[in-house]
Order: sequence, then C-alpha cells, then structure tokens
Amino acid sequence: MIGSGEMGQGIAEVFAIKGYNVMLEDVSRDILEMAINRIKQSLEKLSKKGSLGIDTADTVISRIKTSTSIEESAKDADLVIEAVPEKEELKKKVFQDLEKYSRSNTVLASNTSNIRITDIAKDLKNRKRVAGLHFFNPPVIMKLVEVIKGEETSDDVVETLYRLIKGIGKYPVKVMKDVPGFIVNRVNAPGGLLMCLLVDHKIAEPEEIDAYMKTQGMPMGPFELMDYVGIDVAYHSMQYLARTVNQDFGKCRILEDLYKRNMLGMKTGKGFYDWSKGRPVIDTKKATDKFSITDQYVVEINEAVKLIDDGVASPEDIETGIKYGLNRPFGPIYVAKTLTDAEVSKRLESLVKKFNNSVFDPAESIKNGKMREAIEGLTMKKNEEKVK
Ligand code: CAA
Repeated sequence: MIGSGEMGQGIAEVFAIKGYNVMLEDVSRDILEMAINRIKQSLEKLSKKGSLGIDTADTVISRIKTSTSIEESAKDADLVIEAVPEKEELKKKVFQDLEKYSRSNTVLASNTSNIRITDIAKDLKNRKRVAGLHFFNPPVIMKLVEVIKGEETSDDVVETLYRLIKGIGKYPVKVMKDVPGFIVNRVNAPGGLLMCLLVDHKIAEPEEIDAYMKTQGMPMGPFELMDYVGIDVAYHSMQYLARTVNQDFGKCRILEDLYKRNMLGMKTGKGFYDWSKGRPVIDTKKATDKFSITDQYVVEINEAVKLIDDGVASPEDIETGIKYGLNRPFGPIYVAKTLTDAEVSKRLESLVKKFNNSVFDPAESIKNGKMREAIEGLTMKKNEEKVK
C-alpha cells in the first residue's frame, strides 16, 4: 500500500482484516506511526463490536508492516495499491518506480478519486497490468469499490480485481470506460457544484443545506462530507473536472477560498465546520426551505445519463455506486423512474439560467425525450454496438 493517509491506512486495514499481509509505505517513520495508531483505534472499535471474527485487533495489526521504501514495499507484492495525494505528476512518478521495482506480473492499481488511469499509466512499458481500484472513505465501513479499466488494462487484470473485491466482502462496480471522476465522483460532482453555488449566491448557508439534506435521509450533508474527505480532495477534484470535462466545474468560490486558507476540514480541524472538538453537530431545525433535493437528484440523473450514453457504466452499476459509495438510501436511477423527461429538462434549464453554468446542460438523451431508454440501458447498448 503506497501512501498511508486517510485512504491508504483504511485500505491497508481492510486487507489485513481479511487475512492479507500488507506492507504500508510512506515518506517518513512519523507519518507511518500516526497511520498505525489510527488503524489501531479503528480496529479496537471493530473488535468491541465483534466485527473481527476470531481475530483480535493485535492479530490484524501484526499483518501490517511498514516501510519508507517503495522498492522494499513493491518487490514481493502480488498487488500494489497507490493512494498518494491527488496530483497527476506525483502518481505518474510513483507508477514509474513501481514498474521498476515490482515483479513483472504484479498488478498495479491506483486509488485515484478522479484521474484517468490511462493518463497515470501513460509512460509505462507495460500498461496492461495497471487499473483503478477506488475505495470510499472510510474504507472499513463503505462497501463500494470501483474497478476501473484503463484504455490498455487487460481484461484478466480487471476480472482478477473484480473477484478480489468480491472476496473481501465489498461490492465492486466496473467502470468500462476510463473517464475523469469515474462513476461516483462524476455523478456526485454536479450536485456538489450546485451546493457550492447556493452558498456562493447567498441562497443558503452550508449548515442550513446540510441540515436539510439530513432530513432527506443523507448520512452526512454535502458540506460536512467535503470536510470529512478533505477540502483539498474536493477542490482538486473540481479543478481536475474543470480541466478535463467542463470548465464550469471550476466555478465554486467558497471551496477555493477554504483551500487557499488551508482550512482543509477534519484533517486540519477547520473547514466549513470546526472539527477541533470532534464531528460537528448539525441542528436539523436550521434546515433551509430555499432549495429542493429534487434539484440535486436532477443534476445527478443528468450526469448519470451522460455516462450511460457514453458507455461508461450500466444504470445498475451507477445506482449501486451512488447507494454504496455514498451510503444513500437510493441513487439517481431510482429517482429518475419517478420523473418525466420534460420535468428533468425544465429543472436543468432553469439551473443553467440561474447560475449561468453549463455543467447542468441536459444530456442528449434527456433533450431527445429518451431518458427512460437511457436508464433502462438501451441507449448504452447502441453505444456499445457503435464501439464494436
Ligand atoms: N473505523 C471503525 N469504525 C468506524 C469508523 C472507522 N474508521 N468510522 C465510523 N465507524 C463506526 C463508528 O464507530 C460507529 O459505530 P457504532 O455504531 O458502533 O457507534 C458507526 O461506524 C457509525 O458512526 P457514527 O455514529 O460516528 O456516525 P454515522 O452513523 O454518521 O456513520 C459514516 C459514519 C459511516 C461515515 C456515515 O456518516 C456515512 O456513511 N457518511 C457518508 C460517507 C461517504 O459518503 N463516504 C464517501 C465519500 S467520497 C469518497 O470517499 C471518494 C473520494 O474519492 C473522495
């Protein structure tokens, strides 16, 4: 496991719980020590609940060794997962090292949130063994893992990873076309942007929006979630989507402001909320009535339809992705079944006008009155035929 931050430590923990020997790598001994302490705290919680089976927390932790050398970490591994900060050049450099130091049949996977696997693997000699394996925070709790096929990843590698993820008791979904943000972060991004715009335009405060979203069955409000995963992660995601998909993803001022002030959320103790005394308590009495959750679903449905039309993932995998990647009661495909094309189009057009933001432009299938076909996977089939 390369990188021992929030995700690296959680992924190492997941595999150790399932009986795998893990080598956890990072740049300094201090960072690794902090990571091991965090894993111990998490294992204690799980052990108290009886979730570790016959293993004790000590047995699990004994399966995790640490190292500050990529060479030492990679040389005997069957699988290497990279979870270093979300910077493309850094990831590319790590993969060059991994190609140098790992056995030629070792599978190399990236836990990148957004960056195309094809781009990360671009300069390698053997790109067939490189894939995406995208976990969700906190990895020990969240069930979903996206298995991403880069343009040159072999089918064998994808199948092996898919079976491995099933074997550790998680739900894998296949991302068949390597696009920025894959499934969950891509479908979730326009919703995140919309939330930011509501704040930027002074329509509602973050806490009022979070309070409202909690009353609608979300486990965390969108701003608490951004603080939880890290303002830096959320900001880099939006910037990457702005560069690669639509520049209007970059129009969130409040996120940029927090990022520039190094208010990175839970990890620095301050972001949208103060985390110095633990998780913020959100008062649902403050719920805003200036916005409807249907708008959030509509922008997610729109992005989901774009992915289906483009052959990225099936409607079933998109629904599973959002449900288990974000711990929601249901995803956008379920909601789409209750709406008509005209309703979705009308709401999208109104958001485009209100915020002057083209991210919300309706997908072709929605414009053409074919949303139902899209969410039944019919427009995607045509796309697959086109590819063949
Ligand atoms: N290790 C062990 N146990 C943990 C844990 C961890 N790391 N984190 C939480 N738990 C346990 C808690 O101890 C608690 O246990 P009890 O019920 O026995 O008390 C239980 O999980 C529930 O936790 P809380 O009571 O603190 O709070 P909660 O009910 O709100 O659950 C949560 C916490 C699971 C994180 C929930 O709020 C949630 O699902 N939030 C949404 C998370 C999400 O959307 N993640 C994806 C983010 S996007 C991403 O990660 C992708 C990316 O690329 C950026």
